[in-house]
Amino acid sequence: MNLPSVNKGAASGEVGQRPPESAPKLKSTNLDFYYGTYKALQGISLSIHPNRVTAFIGPSGCGKSTFLRTLNRMYETVRHTRAEGEILLDGEDIFALEVSQLRRRVGMVFQRSNPFPKSIFENVAYGPRVNGTTRKADLQERVERSLRRSALWEEVKDKLHKSAYDLSGGQQQRLCIARALAVDPEVLLLDEPCSALDPIATAKIEDLLFQIKDSCTVVIVTHNMQQAARVADYTGFFLLGKMIEFDSTKVIFKTPSRKETEDYITGRFG
Ligand SMILES: Nc1ncnc2c1ncn2[C@@H]1O[C@H](COP(=O)(O)OP(=O)(O)OP(=O)(O)O)[C@@H](O)[C@H]1O
Ligand SMILES: [Mg+2]
Repeated sequence: MNLPSVNKGAASGEVGQRPPESAPKLKSTNLDFYYGTYKALQGISLSIHPNRVTAFIGPSGCGKSTFLRTLNRMYETVRHTRAEGEILLDGEDIFALEVSQLRRRVGMVFQRSNPFPKSIFENVAYGPRVNGTTRKADLQERVERSLRRSALWEEVKDKLHKSAYDLSGGQQQRLCIARALAVDPEVLLLDEPCSALDPIATAKIEDLLFQIKDSCTVVIVTHNMQQAARVADYTGFFLLGKMIEFDSTKVIFKTPSRKETEDYITGRFG
């Protein structure tokens, strides 16, 4: 793996003496998160580097999805939740942004594919339409470009007006990625996008992550450590609501500095 140098990093803060390779796309500082009185995240501080893939790993219930959902304030759809701390997107406080604007810039794909009950075309055209694209030719161009980026175009180009529900699970997941990409997000968050997919569909999604990181910053939660090792430039290990270690994927999988990380990746734990 040819990985860039990175702040030796971790857990409870921006650790390390070397300057980062570039300004972070997203920067979380001392982020706490509550479901009611239950504190699900404790003091998460880390930087997500632009045009890189960052993976979050860790045992079930450790807060990976919760953290991902704070990055575009998706948790606000759940009642009695509260985030405290700071998250910056290109240096701007995400809590001060208009939420629809934030979610246009930071898109999300969920574990279970959730296409709208509409045609393939309308699923992908939905976001651009909401954002004001009305000309048919512009919409067609955007739909084709997004479906090509999500490696689905060749499979659906002759049935764009068929229902999205006619697609296989793997195709539906790529459709959801196309829908997210159609508004040109700066960051794409993916929560276990391959957990219900076969190895061929998984490989297609991993390939497209390599391609889209040219124009997008990618953050992925995965339980599949081989997948993290294959696709991610950086990996963060969560445990019990804390970020135990965050570093280049190579360091996390080959020479982690924390015993908990080593125990987890070698399967002695969790
Ligand atoms: N809507 C909710 N209401 C209350 N508690 C929640 C809610 N969602 C998650 N939690 C709790 O917050 C903690 C973190 O959950 P989260 O879903 O972020 O974990 P995860 O690391 O994504 O797990 P998994 O790998 O199983 O998806 C867990 O203890 C969970 O029970
Ligand atoms: Mg989860």
